[in-house]
Amino acid sequence: MDHFLYRNGELHAEDVAVADIAAAVGTPFYLYSTATLTRHFQLFDEALEGVDHLVCYAMKAASNQAILKTLADLGAGMDVVSGGEYARARAAGVPGEKIVFSGVGKTRSEIRAALEGGVRQFNVESEPEMRVISELAVSLGKTAPITVRVNPDVDAKTHAKIATGKSENKFGIPIARAREVYAEAARLPGIEIVGIDVHIGSQLTDLAPYELAYDKVAELTEALREDGHNISRLDLGGGLGIPYTRSNEAPPLPSDYGAMIRRTLGHLDCEIEIEPGRLIAGNAGILVSRVIYIKEGEGRRFLILDGAMNDLIRPAMYDAWHDIVPVTEPAAGVDLQPFDIVGPVCESGDTFAKGRMMPPLAEGDLVAFRSAGAYGAVMASEYNTRPLVPEVLAKGDQFAVIRKRPDFDEIINRDTIPPWL
Ligand code: LLP
Repeated sequence: MDHFLYRNGELHAEDVAVADIAAAVGTPFYLYSTATLTRHFQLFDEALEGVDHLVCYAMKAASNQAILKTLADLGAGMDVVSGGEYARARAAGVPGEKIVFSGVGKTRSEIRAALEGGVRQFNVESEPEMRVISELAVSLGKTAPITVRVNPDVDAKTHAKIATGKSENKFGIPIARAREVYAEAARLPGIEIVGIDVHIGSQLTDLAPYELAYDKVAELTEALREDGHNISRLDLGGGLGIPYTRSNEAPPLPSDYGAMIRRTLGHLDCEIEIEPGRLIAGNAGILVSRVIYIKEGEGRRFLILDGAMNDLIRPAMYDAWHDIVPVTEPAAGVDLQPFDIVGPVCESGDTFAKGRMMPPLAEGDLVAFRSAGAYGAVMASEYNTRPLVPEVLAKGDQFAVIRKRPDFDEIINRDTIPPWL
């Protein structure tokens, strides 16, 4: 469920007409709904009601500070994977003790910044990383709370590029070696073991792989406790999938997920952390774009938009499907025609959809890519020197630009021509 609905024949974000925002901001742009972000966060929070828990939003999904503040004000913690994300979360007002630091290649300067600024825990991904954290913590006179991310070797049954829980993936420490790694952690100075971390992939549409992984985590918790370690916190990662089409997809709900967590891990009396990204932001955002031309090709018709692969890379990168809808509601029963929907970038990969059945559209019309709130704006680039796509947040009948479109000078002036050239 989201808050992008047709009203009087016009797509609205909450109570604002999308066309009015387009007129004010220009296209393309990302548009988020506060009510949808709020609702999705609360679904997770409620799913774990009665269990000691913290929902740490995986801010890689959509990291604008206005989004972070919206969620942090509701009580969210953050899952960060870089020094930049850590700084952004802090800038948005998130306290260090609500920030979980994940990521397979944390650098010394990133670790130092988090130790100095405060961090809830590091989710350690390798022994060398653990040794560096220990060394830096000792040199700063701090104690670093850690979990070890274990790789449970389960198949998440998702797109290969976003599966992380198989032994061939670069993530985590093989679960079979976990006891040995925790033993070393316990010997290292400056380190405090607080729990276990696991994340098996993204866009999971079945709870079975989670359950397999969490059963293994439950077993490991008991084994590590027998070894004398303090396992009081379980970070269960993110990954719950969302429907990308309105029609037939029905991935498990956060409440189903919460019930499964209680069933598999409830008896361990641990604090539960989860790191959802996509489910909170995905259907809370759309990408709005305008039709530049309609071009008749050899046996196909191209809808050329002003949005491109640099603005939304998911179709090019993962063959991802996004529903694309006209901003003006088509008349009921209107004839649909196949279109190849493309952007202006000079690559054939700049194709959002092939043979997509669409209602009649004309040059100048607005369209919206649905389910674009997660891994949309954050993965945008300035390829082809196209300005980084702006972001807008709606709340009730208000909207605000939360990242403005840079002008050409801002982009060009970032380059420096050396004096010897
Ligand atoms: N925690 C960790 C350690 C992660 O690596 C991720 C996502 C998450 C949490 C959040 O997962 P989510 O709840 O959003 O599924 N760019 C890809 C998705 C990459 C996901 C990377 N890790 C896409 O557009 O589909």
